[in-house]
Amino acid sequence: MSAELSRLVARLRARLNRADGRAGREAVHVQRLLDRIAHDPAPYGANAHPLVRHLPAALAGLERDAPDLAALLGPLAAGLPWRHGYEASAELADLHLNMGWAEFVGPAAPWRSDEVCLGLTLIGPNTHYPAHQHPAVELYHVLTGVAEWSSHWRRPGAFVLHDSNQIHAMRTGDEPLLALYTWSGDVVSPSVWSRQP
Ligand SMILES: [Fe+2]
Repeated sequence: MSAELSRLVARLRARLNRADGRAGREAVHVQRLLDRIAHDPAPYGANAHPLVRHLPAALAGLERDAPDLAALLGPLAAGLPWRHGYEASAELADLHLNMGWAEFVGPAAPWRSDEVCLGLTLIGPNTHYPAHQHPAVELYHVLTGVAEWSSHWRRPGAFVLHDSNQIHAMRTGDEPLLALYTWSGDVVSPSVWSRQP
């Protein structure tokens, strides 16, 4: 399984090379940090997160938008360590059932790093991810589905860069969103909800 995961992560890293402008500079920085991680991935276990019910539709979209990635991710997707990192609350309704991520590189990921994260975010259709912020610089790359960040709808292939502690929010369209994300800088401090969008 680690060889298949390594191939998937290598293909995701290759996608970062498509970034240009400010996002491109961040992608180069992330690649340099990733180059310093040499060990094999640690074992990981699936956690049967309710989010995985969105995987069939997300993988169907990925087959259309990035078939090479769909072939690599499909056999692994349901067994990845999907999780949701925020506390459930009444205000957020069922967000914890519809938004989460599987991290491949990070402080608690199969490839351990305290300076860079790389993973996949999966968000169900028509889901609002409220305003939040974190010290880490964040780079999203949309793989399938569409989402609105700061009044701009982003389609597959788009890159979205968030500076350290920049407040940001997003909402998805009628299909699940599957996006590559990276964090760099202070990747240990968690994301927190913001008072203002
Ligand atoms: Fe973020």
